[in-house]
This record gives sequence, C-alpha cells and structure tokens, in this order.
Amino acid sequence: MNVRQDFPILEKRINGSPIIYMDSACMALKPRQVVDAMNEYYTDFTACHGRSAHAFAQETTRRFEAARQTVAKFIGAASSEVVFTRNTTEAINIVANGLDLVGGTVVTTNLEHNSNLLPWLRLSKQGVTHKMVPVEENGALDLEKLAEAVDKNTRLVSLVHTSNVTGATIDAREAAKIAHDNDALLLLDSAQAAPHVPINAKKSGVDFLAFSGHKMLGPSGTGALYGKKALLEELDQFIVGGSTVKDVSADGWVPEEVPGRFEAGLQDYAGVLGFAAAADYLTRIGMGKVRDYEKALGARLLEGLAGIDKLTVIGGDAPERTALASFVVEGVEPHDIAMILSESHNIFLRSGMHCAHFYHKEVGLPKGTVRASLYIYSTEEEIDTFVSALSGAVNTFA
Ligand code: ALA
Repeated sequence: MNVRQDFPILEKRINGSPIIYMDSACMALKPRQVVDAMNEYYTDFTACHGRSAHAFAQETTRRFEAARQTVAKFIGAASSEVVFTRNTTEAINIVANGLDLVGGTVVTTNLEHNSNLLPWLRLSKQGVTHKMVPVEENGALDLEKLAEAVDKNTRLVSLVHTSNVTGATIDAREAAKIAHDNDALLLLDSAQAAPHVPINAKKSGVDFLAFSGHKMLGPSGTGALYGKKALLEELDQFIVGGSTVKDVSADGWVPEEVPGRFEAGLQDYAGVLGFAAAADYLTRIGMGKVRDYEKALGARLLEGLAGIDKLTVIGGDAPERTALASFVVEGVEPHDIAMILSESHNIFLRSGMHCAHFYHKEVGLPKGTVRASLYIYSTEEEIDTFVSALSGAVNTFA
C-alpha cells in the first residue's frame, strides 16, 4: 500500500536506523492529513461550537457537525446516531450507565478488553447477572455457544468485535441475530475492528457500537458511540453538565437532543476534526482494500513466526483475523523480548496483558504475551526483518 509518505514519523531514525512500528493496536501512527486538520483548528478558527455567534464559532460548529457526518458515514450510520466520546471505554460506560439492566443478564466473552469487562463486573455487584462465554482455542467465538448462553433474561450482549489479543473478528450480523432473537440488545466493542475491517452499523443490525479515533489513524482522546436513535433517546445521561441541556430549573433540566446530550462539557474540537480526517483518509483508501492488504500481511507474519522454535501464537488460526499476533516464547519473558528488539533493532512491540488480564490468566499466561500489531503503513520487508531479529533474539536466550 502506497501510504508511507503520508506518515512523517516513519522518516525518524534512532541511532541512525529506521524504526519498525508494530504497536498499532495500542496507538496507530498519524498521517499528515490528520495533523494538518488539527493544526488548522488551532491556527485558523479556534472557538467553541454551538454557543457564540461570531465567525470562528460558526466555523467550529460547521466543522464539528461535518466531522460527525464523516465519522457516521465511515460506519454506515446517520450523524444523529453518533456521539463523540474520548475513547471506546467512555462509549461503553455511557451504555452501561445509561441502560436499565438491573434484574437482567449481560453476556460477554472471556476475551474482552477491560473496557468491555469492568463496567459489567461493577454492575454484577448491583443486581445485574454477568455471563462470560469462553472463546475457542483459536480465539474465535463459537456462535452456537453464544446462542446457548443468551436467553430471555439477557438484556445485553456485549462483545469484542475484533480482539486486541488474537485479532479474531466476529460476524456482527450473526451476533445481532442471536441477541435480537432473544429480545436483547447487541453492543460491539469495535476499537480494533473500526481501523481494520469494513463496518456497516445499519446493515449489521448492531444496536450500539463503540470505537476509538487513536487506533484508526486519528488523535488520542477521541472516540465515538453509535446507537440506534430510538435507543439513544431512551438512554439515561451518564455525565451531565454544560452542553447536555436545553433548559434548567431548580427541579432539574431538559436534556439536549441526541446525540449532543451525551457530549458533556467543551469538546476536543481539534481532536474531533483530526478523527474525521482519519475516517476520511481510510474511506478514500477503501476499508475493503485495507482489510485485504492486512490479510496478506497477517498471513506473512504468521508464516514467519511459525518458523521460530518454541514460539506459540495465541489464537493463531482464527478464520477471520487482522494483521496482529500475540505470542510467547518458552523460557523467555515477554518484556525481555520487547525490550531487546527495541534496543537492538528499533522494532516497537507491546508486551504484557494488553488490558485483557482475565483472558491471559484463563489461558495460563499470567505474564502476558508479546504482540506485533500491524497497519496500512506496515510492509512485508518489515515483517521479514522482525522475524529474523526475533529469531536471533530467541537464540541468544536459548
Ligand atoms: N487496547 C490497547 C491495546 O491493546 C491499549 O494495546
């Protein structure tokens, strides 16, 4: 994919050598189009949106709502169904704290990121039953097992769409059918899906979908919650204050229309404009093309890792997966591998629990894994360099 010239950070050298960035599941790099969109806000029309009447404020309001449209289009939704948040975690918490779930059941997998686990663990102490469906050894969710776990007491099925540990991606449409057959709602944690696979919220039938800007080439501190409009209208407000009301009296307030009623306080305008620029950048490439390019990268990555002695990839052969591999090497600490590759080859990986403590412990990996997570700027040459450096590092530990 011919995009590397858009990412100035890839020109950086450390000790005279280029960097190989393989930590995109944590933080994606930013193309100059995103940085330019953010700078423009600070240099050309800094103001609040939806309040003052002057020219800068009007421009900010216009751009903010245009950004909402761009982000909505990116996931096949209407702009009235997209709430800007700080990240996926905040988006999920808006749903967890806004739905009335007491007396009902929430079903997740055992592979959830903490952002889609802790809100339900907390509610499980407040009258909500939380059930976890274990994923298969290859990281994939067996939808028949999901269907067995969902019943008429289930109010919400809340699933990781693409795992940040295994890269496995679920079929959103099938998951929505299982939830709806039981009159339950479906929430998808799409933090790792939105950057890598095409999403159409409307067609898939999902009720809520949470994702982050920073994993899809946008700035950190940005994210979104998609919700069907009627559901957003029923949801209680989670954080209240400035911007969330139409009127206030001594007895209470009249909430703003959706989606604005969930966007409390002044927003990160530059961030939102950068988020939209990232969505626009990916839309121009085409998410189908992104997925296909990454499929080829992922296959090469797995093939390379398969040749390294004593190395096991977690969930390596899930049928639908992104270009990401979490692995362990027998007898070597995950952090040591990540450190040595950073110091010796400027290869940037993540090691540890990847905010999925529960799953790592379930599969007997209390020290976590090493993870290589690729994106559209990654190349086959980088994978080959990584595999060869990793192989050398493993031999020095043997
Ligand atoms: N969820 C992020 C990751 O997987 C932080 O690295």
